Amino acid sequence: MRKFGFLIHPLSYDDVLRYEPKAVGKGMPLIKKILEWMPAYKVSHITGVRSLTGEEIEGFFIGTPLLPEQWLELPREAAMARVVAGAKLAAQLGCDIVGLGGFTAVVGDGGVTVAENCPIAVTTGNSYTIASAIQSLLRGAREMDIDLENAHAAVIGATGSIGSACAQIIGNKVARLTLVARNATRLKNLRNAMQPHVSAVLDCTIDVTAAVRSADIVLTATAATSTIVEPEDLRPGAVVCEVSLPHDVSRRVATERPDVLVTEGGNIRVPGDPNFNFDFGLPDAVALACMSETMILALENRIENYSLGRGINIAKVLEIQRLADKHGFELAGMRAFDKPVTQAKIDATRELARAAKSTGMSNGHARVAPPPAAETAAQ
Ligand SMILES: NC(=O)c1ccc[n+]([C@@H]2O[C@H](COP(=O)([O-])OP(=O)(O)OC[C@H]3O[C@@H](n4cnc5c(N)ncnc54)[C@H](OP(=O)(O)O)[C@@H]3O)[C@@H](O)[C@H]2O)c1
Repeated sequence: MRKFGFLIHPLSYDDVLRYEPKAVGKGMPLIKKILEWMPAYKVSHITGVRSLTGEEIEGFFIGTPLLPEQWLELPREAAMARVVAGAKLAAQLGCDIVGLGGFTAVVGDGGVTVAENCPIAVTTGNSYTIASAIQSLLRGAREMDIDLENAHAAVIGATGSIGSACAQIIGNKVARLTLVARNATRLKNLRNAMQPHVSAVLDCTIDVTAAVRSADIVLTATAATSTIVEPEDLRPGAVVCEVSLPHDVSRRVATERPDVLVTEGGNIRVPGDPNFNFDFGLPDAVALACMSETMILALENRIENYSLGRGINIAKVLEIQRLADKHGFELAGMRAFDKPVTQAKIDATRELARAAKSTGMSNGHARVAPPPAAETAAQ
């Protein structure tokens, strides 16, 4: 039976406590030190992943335990050495292919160096993440009756591996698209390169707040380690598809903006009777799209470096979606803020959005008390 490995790491302090209850009461500096000392290790054995074709595979989650900010703070060589060590453990466990989860795909060059230093095939899983993020965004837009052809979209993290491909696809579906990241030069270069290939009018900004305030639909795919989308800024009836892990959207949106539909992009129902033997916070039989891409490639016997580097091949996004359909992988039920979003909740959100729009509110900012006149003038 073919085998796959997938590298995982905690996304937050809460994750560390969930996985290791003995960490309770220990301060963050000590926890970070312990994580730095820990080598890659086998977290769990994954069984029961069975394609519609009858093909079955097994796999392993492999822990490369650092928090997101630790991955970003580490010197590049040290970060790469940790990812390579995790990938080599997958090889020792007999895996044919290994997927890079979370920031193990973000640090360095998006898996290229790992693939050069690892005896088995490597993928970031980003092609299927992109395909499923677009599906999630379009499902949200449909549910909220957004007229896509006339809509204004924003992609935050637009110069990234996932964000740039999503922007390219969304850019042929909406009227206007704002590209957002922190590096203005890279953004302008992207806008100039992309404009001839998309029908939408493109603009770009490093101002996340301004971009969110103008957008009917928002897709976030950043490597930010804290939240950047706030409830005050979202337009009434906006749809936000959140691919980033850890999350980009403030949890305050859940309570303060019932007229806004937030959906996690990239949650996939895995075929067969999968048992991950590890709770990573999703319902039974649901995995992230990047994990699912690794499984799909193993099922299809495509033991090759698939999604690597910063530039994603749109043809591969289409191909992996076709292979996902063939093997029975499909978008899971909608979730946001780690909870299911029921159809009743979606219907209520749509109604509240209609009501908010009919009052002529331009964005959620109008909900909070306006600042005193002097403060306004000083801004
Ligand atoms: N849900 C899933 O299945 C799944 C699968 C794979 C990856 N992911 C997540 O997707 C996200 C993106 O991954 P990637 O591989 O595309 O990363 P990437 O290639 O490193 O791109 C990150 C992008 O975010 C921008 N960025 C970083 N910090 C920012 C901030 N504070 N504000 C605004 N923009 C910021 C970067 O540009 P600047 O540096 O110029 O700002 C870049 O455009 C990560 O959170 C990753 O964990 C999720």
